[in-house]
Amino acid sequence: MASPAQNERLTRVGPGTPMGELLRRYWHPFAAAAELDDLGIKPVKLLGEELVAFRSGNGGYGLIDRQCPHRRADMLHGIVEDDGIRCSYHGWCFGASGQCLEQPFEDLANPKARFRDKIRTKAYRVEEKAGMLWAYMGPEPAPLVPNWEPFTWENGFRQVVYADVPCNWFQCQENSLDPVHFEWMHRNWSSRLFGDGSYGPKHLELKFDEFEFGHIYRRVREDTDKSNQHWTVGATALWPNAFFLGDHIEWRIPVDDENTLSITWMFHRVPVDREPYVQQRVPYWKGPVKDDQGNWITSHVLNQDIVAWVGQGVIADRTEEHLGQSDLGIAMLRRSFDKNMQLVAEGQDPKGLIRDPERNMCVELPIKHREMFTSSMTLAESRAMGDALAYRLNRPDYQHQVGQPEAVKREYQVAMGMIPEDAEHTI
Ligand code: FES
Ligand SMILES: [Fe+2]
Repeated sequence: MASPAQNERLTRVGPGTPMGELLRRYWHPFAAAAELDDLGIKPVKLLGEELVAFRSGNGGYGLIDRQCPHRRADMLHGIVEDDGIRCSYHGWCFGASGQCLEQPFEDLANPKARFRDKIRTKAYRVEEKAGMLWAYMGPEPAPLVPNWEPFTWENGFRQVVYADVPCNWFQCQENSLDPVHFEWMHRNWSSRLFGDGSYGPKHLELKFDEFEFGHIYRRVREDTDKSNQHWTVGATALWPNAFFLGDHIEWRIPVDDENTLSITWMFHRVPVDREPYVQQRVPYWKGPVKDDQGNWITSHVLNQDIVAWVGQGVIADRTEEHLGQSDLGIAMLRRSFDKNMQLVAEGQDPKGLIRDPERNMCVELPIKHREMFTSSMTLAESRAMGDALAYRLNRPDYQHQVGQPEAVKREYQVAMGMIPEDAEHTI
């Protein structure tokens, strides 16, 4: 059970809060790069701050305060220029650094004053990696955007998938170190909802470890033993706010204290006869969380998770909970956050920052059956291997979350050689 003060500390992300300050030491993905190519300007709310992201004419990205520092107009209605973004109200123009570059009337009426040199809007660094845009909102020097191992894999079809989750981010992240929920939520409940009602194998033993880039949980179930990779490799709660499963990473991005953006980066290795495959553009889509009748969607794994997270309340009241043996990972995670918030308060670097470019060439993480994603196989071989491991690999439909648009599905099926390039329909 947590105290009210601890609940507050773990969940609040605004500027100046202990958690807000800790999270500002890390890069956070906030959009697909292709999205800014399509839109030019996008409203972004991150860690409680209202911002706009833009792609300028010369190809650079920016992330600045949503309100213009002149008289507070909305920069969402700005005009993208070669070297920045111009407010559409009176034409002040800003570079990605936040520096005001031009004030059309002031520059004409009183050029000697160089008023523009004194004006700067709030601006954060943006970098592109793995088809996503990442923001850094903390102090300099910024660490490197982590080059997680799957970002270096070749011959893959990647996609970026969002969901808007109307609850606090921390209960979503606690789920990343919660093995027993798989048995109940994704197996037994699914079986009652959509299957024969049978129960799956029980969890028999759990173990939780901390490492440089997060926390690992290991499990033995009735159908596995300690030689199984569920135990020898485990699954990773990637520090500070993601769940890492090898071929996909799910981030729980704090929008504000009461809303989370779920971003999944998903990798599908193409079959051997499609190699070499180079993806020109990483597609993106947002799935719904409720159906047309306003009911929560429970058909897919991530949708089930969302139902659990939102069901805990907008901000879960941890003063009313009762933790048991299954929650040792949850307690470990909270202790780590407390410790790292303290480090930041003392002016030290928190856990897991990468500053060495050499190290960042490829940051290895624990990956169960890495060969499923890194070796050349036919579609039939990869599916057979997945089936043997109870991992539904390379199916025609997106398995993880509901709502993949037909256009993305088509792109995927063509990439995977499931349908020809000129196919009229998907399968
Ligand atoms: S409010 Fe933006 S230029 Fe005047
Ligand atoms: Fe889950």
